[in-house]
Amino acid sequence: MTTTKGELYNQLAAQLSSLLAGERDLVANAANCSSLIFHSLPDLNWAGFYFAKDGELVLGPFQGQPACVRIKIGQGVCGAGAAKCDTVIVPNVHEFPGHIACDSASNSEIVVPLMKDGRMIGVLDLDSPKLSRFDQEDAAGLEELVKILLSSVTS
Ligand code: SME
Repeated sequence: MTTTKGELYNQLAAQLSSLLAGERDLVANAANCSSLIFHSLPDLNWAGFYFAKDGELVLGPFQGQPACVRIKIGQGVCGAGAAKCDTVIVPNVHEFPGHIACDSASNSEIVVPLMKDGRMIGVLDLDSPKLSRFDQEDAAGLEELVKILLSSVTS
């Protein structure tokens, strides 16, 4: 029997909740969250976080190739998600104006903002070597994982 995408995200949500239970440190929990996502979802070459600091995004915990450290709000896919405070799905990064190529293997991308108490504190960023890897089901599933992460931490 094959697992549907919705079922996979439901399993991931349950796993993330138990993985983060009892720990309230943002960096530690974001690190475990990025590892769980990277090793559980198919066709990813990068999964990780950028945190908002002094008006820009700064690289946080991630899995994948080394990545650019600082991204201006509004710049690239991450900066677009941070500026809009909304999830951004890019089916083909080569057609996205201003896309920042950290890993030449990336062809599609999704960015989910981290909204804590009405403030944008960072983004979750996933890259894939597959074109059109991410859809609305991924957006909904990842937004749920971000909610679990944010409710686990103190700040
Ligand atoms: N491609 C992103 C930069 C971050 S990396 O993908 C890890 C962007 O355009 O914002």
